[in-house]
Amino acid sequence: MFQSKIAGMGYYVPKNVYTNNDLTRFMDTSDEWIQERTGIKERRYADRLEETTTTMAVEAAKIAIERAKTTAQEIDFIIFATLSPDYYFPGCGVLLQREMGMKEIGALDIRNQCSGFVYALSIADQFIKTGMYKNILVVGSEKQSFAMDYSTRGRSVSVIFGDGAGAVVVQPTTEEGKGILSTHLHADGADAEKLALYYPGASAGKWLENKPNWPDKELGDIFMTPEMLEDGSVTAHMDGQAVFKKAVVKFPEVIAEALQKNNLQTGDIDMLIPHQANLRISQYVQKTLGLSDDQVFNNIQKYGNTTAASVPIALCEAWEQGKIKDGDLVCLAAFGAGFTWGSALIRW
Ligand code: UT7
Repeated sequence: MFQSKIAGMGYYVPKNVYTNNDLTRFMDTSDEWIQERTGIKERRYADRLEETTTTMAVEAAKIAIERAKTTAQEIDFIIFATLSPDYYFPGCGVLLQREMGMKEIGALDIRNQCSGFVYALSIADQFIKTGMYKNILVVGSEKQSFAMDYSTRGRSVSVIFGDGAGAVVVQPTTEEGKGILSTHLHADGADAEKLALYYPGASAGKWLENKPNWPDKELGDIFMTPEMLEDGSVTAHMDGQAVFKKAVVKFPEVIAEALQKNNLQTGDIDMLIPHQANLRISQYVQKTLGLSDDQVFNNIQKYGNTTAASVPIALCEAWEQGKIKDGDLVCLAAFGAGFTWGSALIRW
């Protein structure tokens, strides 16, 4: 069995900054409401035409690959986490592979939303441990701004989310006790519809059944209709309070699980990188675990919630700021749609 480590990291955020005040041009909201409920001050939005989930991922991946002292040609597997792919299919993994001129390696797309990166890292860890691959590119990237409702109707969701990408290269290590110590993944589909983007989707027939313009045909035409566009069914739906309540229980639980597995205590954590869902959630988790301010990294103030990209962006930024040093115990934790959640404990 091999042990795996994060050998290089990179992130990319688009240039366009939208402050809370900027959003008041589109909807009835305020800087005060957004900051008080979420801690967010501003977020980045990708260029509507030039940038996609894949192009941002490529920028992040280039940095990660260089820092891992390898090349795109040496990458032997891609794992791409996103809920905002360039196409419904194929996934972004193959698009990134093409853009970066990589070999005919495997490319896996995973759909685990906010916990997508932690799931992806766990998969990479298993492949490295068994010796199947030696140089895995793991990406979390999101262009969420293209599918948000920026009218007052969608304000409780749209103000939270932002765009960006983060990437890491996972390789084997021979350094005893270093690298990814363990990963822990969970899901509970009971509340799947509480945070979801329903359509386009294969259950659209059910939604349309009782509508006046139900397309009365034997086959086809129910993937997406003008009515769905009009009533907001093609933008994300979230029962914010239900998500919040579950998140503040599951974050501490899955962090405790990781610590227990490795016979460690919360006090041993040098840096907790929580998924940047809402600053209030991170603060609640910090308080529950009794961690100090310098044991928890937050950057949601600048980028909003970038879903699958939030953990690798935060991890990379914390490292660039010198907040993660050799030998540190780093904990990644995420919770989101599905519901799905997970953690990873890493000895740097
Ligand atoms: O990353 C994936 C997981 N997602 C999360 O972790 C999100 C978890 N949930 C949350 O962060 C919070 O629930 C939100 C920030 C989304 C919402 O905060 P809340 O305290 O739960 O607000 P609410 O949705 O219950 O709305 C409270 C009030 C409502 O007005 P009334 O009915 O009290 O008059 C909303 O219409 O705030 C209103 N409101 C807004 N007002 C100004 C909702 N959104 C906005 C807005 N600006 N953007």
